[in-house]
Amino acid sequence: MINDTVWMDTENDLLCCIDQTRLPNERVTLELHEARDIYTAIKRLAVRGAPAIGVAAAIGLYAACSRFEDKEKKGFLYSLQKTAELLNSSRPTAVNLSWALERMLSVADKNKGKSTEKIKAALKTEALNIYNEDIEVCYKIGVNGLALLRDGSRILTHCNAGALAAVRYGTALAPIYVGLEKGYSFKVFADETRPLLQGARLTAYELCENGIDTTLICDNMAASLMQKGMVDAVLVGCDRVAANGDAANKIGTLGVALIARAFSVPFYVCAPYSTIDFSCRSGEDIVIEQRDAEEVTELHFNARMTHRDAKVYNPAFDVTPAELITAFITEKGVFAPNLI
Ligand code: MRU
Repeated sequence: MINDTVWMDTENDLLCCIDQTRLPNERVTLELHEARDIYTAIKRLAVRGAPAIGVAAAIGLYAACSRFEDKEKKGFLYSLQKTAELLNSSRPTAVNLSWALERMLSVADKNKGKSTEKIKAALKTEALNIYNEDIEVCYKIGVNGLALLRDGSRILTHCNAGALAAVRYGTALAPIYVGLEKGYSFKVFADETRPLLQGARLTAYELCENGIDTTLICDNMAASLMQKGMVDAVLVGCDRVAANGDAANKIGTLGVALIARAFSVPFYVCAPYSTIDFSCRSGEDIVIEQRDAEEVTELHFNARMTHRDAKVYNPAFDVTPAELITAFITEKGVFAPNLI
């Protein structure tokens, strides 16, 4: 199993994470403690994937606040709040970000009667709890998802919801890793995932590093594969689930769900239970991140590949309606969308 994607250097109070923008060619670790650097690392997708963002924000908030010099508790708590707000503004769609930061702030609030040093210690413990829980929750998602697969299953996945998107097991790829530990073998089709190629750069990398039979496909090939009966199940992750079961995930997921429905392939959304945002009634309430046009026109090419006057529409996520989702695979079990 590849090493953790995000972790805490507990001796030096640093947020450590693999710089995912450098993969698959270079494996570089970032060591961060400045709030602005952590914000930028999340925004530019050096650390990305909903659970990984949450863990990085929690550890990052602790790393930043461990250096606050405010002697006065009031000043410390104010700086903590402002830093959490900054980190929370880095990306809008994944609920894990605000969920983790709220957990950190509520620990500070519960300990506000204690000294600044004691509050810092409590924040360190909570950041480590969030990190450890992610490993445990993703492992359970893997166990629950594995029950829906069989040895030799052919799985299609979109974007990267694997080890790189969480601390260790990932969500959509967790059943594959847990199966691997138990001696199963699978065949995985990874959508390349335009425009930022998380599938080509990250999913193919981590699956191949773990010796899993991996085939990279362009996004427009998924329909043809499913039409030919080459896919037994689709497994994807998600960034936020509304109370009615609509699920936001990487742009292109909706298309995959529609294709899966058309060819009667089960479509599973794998996520920690905390990804359900009961304050969103439906997918229409989920804020979809809009990213820079250059990601479509230039980023992965040597030169601009589009006419300069072409407009670009670049939403980073889409919403799959609950009726297209066969089931949610969570650490608490497998649920039909109307039963979450
Ligand atoms: O923009 P990204 O790369 O952060 O988008 C990631 C996804 O859409 C993942 O599928 C999702 O976060 C689930 S990760 C376990």
